[in-house]
Amino acid sequence: MKNLLSMENVSNEEIEEILKRAAEFEAGAKPQLDREYLVANLFFEPSTRTKTSFETAERRVGATVIPFEAGFSSTLKGETLYDTVKTLESIGLDAVVIRHKKDAYYEELLEGINVSVINAGDGAGQHPSQSMLDLYTIFKEFGKFEGLNVTIAGDVSHSRVAKSDIIALQRLGANVNIVCPPQWQGEYDAHYDWDDLIETSDVIMLLRVQHERDAAFEGYSNESYHERYGLTKEREKRMKDGAIIMHPAPVNRGVEIDSSLVECDRSRIFKQVQNGVFVRMAIVENILKGRS
Ligand code: CP
Repeated sequence: MKNLLSMENVSNEEIEEILKRAAEFEAGAKPQLDREYLVANLFFEPSTRTKTSFETAERRVGATVIPFEAGFSSTLKGETLYDTVKTLESIGLDAVVIRHKKDAYYEELLEGINVSVINAGDGAGQHPSQSMLDLYTIFKEFGKFEGLNVTIAGDVSHSRVAKSDIIALQRLGANVNIVCPPQWQGEYDAHYDWDDLIETSDVIMLLRVQHERDAAFEGYSNESYHERYGLTKEREKRMKDGAIIMHPAPVNRGVEIDSSLVECDRSRIFKQVQNGVFVRMAIVENILKGRS
């Protein structure tokens, strides 16, 4: 891959290749980079997991990480994203990882940019590396995607994770259901109640309520949302044997999921974070190797 921008542009074969390499890294494989590569992480929105996970992955595959802090960059003087990335390319960087509030920000970069771009989240658009680590987590658990029942619950309309996961999971043969209030279903069909999805799902993925994106509750309090759409202790008890709980995090404890379930036996929430490093090692190595 030259870039990783959207799960729409990633083939099933490329997904398979990344997941296989992530498993090799998890088993202790050594990275295979043949020269020094320079990378930078440009986060124009807050991040804990994705930024530190990419930086850890970059260091583990042997890339040199060039520090970049959006809040101390010439972006504050009005420099465009294109000019920022073109500047880093001119300095000699091979790849940049970017999180930006603008949907599909990368479209303004594609023309004339040679540095590789890894999308770490664009507005309410896509989050492909999170999707890859979600796929890795599911595949490790079930050894397949075909026929799995995956229920995604929460604010799908503002969730780039949901959009990337829905594209990839449906293409790989999973049955994806959505549970959310009508105002959050976006372009998708949705259930407005859990119906029988608690009992029939292999994977229940909760989404964070995104207060910062003006995704107001519109009639819900934390408590009433939790009761209607959250994973309560009572609902968890009705999940089928072997079913798992996922959440891209950060988590609003007590809103989309009961706090006591975040680290329960079924939960893979911190496992997702752990898996993310191996998956991002595979992504970064794949992209940098393509530049040799
Ligand atoms: N899942 C995720 O993207 O988390 P961060 O916002 O902390 O990177």
